[in-house]
Amino acid sequence: MGEVEKDKKIFVQKCAQCHIMEKRVKHKTGPNLHGQFEHKTDQATGFSYTDASKNKAITWVEDTLMEYLENPMKYIPGTKMIFTGIKRSQKEQH
Ligand code: HEC
Repeated sequence: MGEVEKDKKIFVQKCAQCHIMEKRVKHKTGPNLHGQFEHKTDQATGFSYTDASKNKAITWVEDTLMEYLENPMKYIPGTKMIFTGIKRSQKEQH
């Protein structure tokens, strides 16, 4: 419970300016993230991803997501997600 609340807070603070999580709502600067977890990159319908993201073709699970979020430009060079990254220490270690 605590962790979910904390994740939510991080999402609202750091991600909500560009991403929406609710089903059937449109994209903002970034793709709608509903249902993206455990799916491959570039699956949100109607969003134009960079080739960098398309070619990365990894599946978003906790490990890949955390690595991406720590430093998006390093994990997917050429991504248009302009985000400085979050430290792993802000989240629980697993
Ligand atoms: C400044 C806007 C911005 C912020 C802030 C941002 N993102 Fe993004 N995000 C994007 C864009 C744009 C893309 C598409 C990247 C591409 O096509 O290269 C993206 C892509 C993604 C993807 C890949 C989606 C897919 O379908 O492949 C995930 C996952 C993601 N962001 C999660 C997050 C999370 C979690 C946060 C907060 C910690 C965050 N983003 C913060 C703009 C942003």
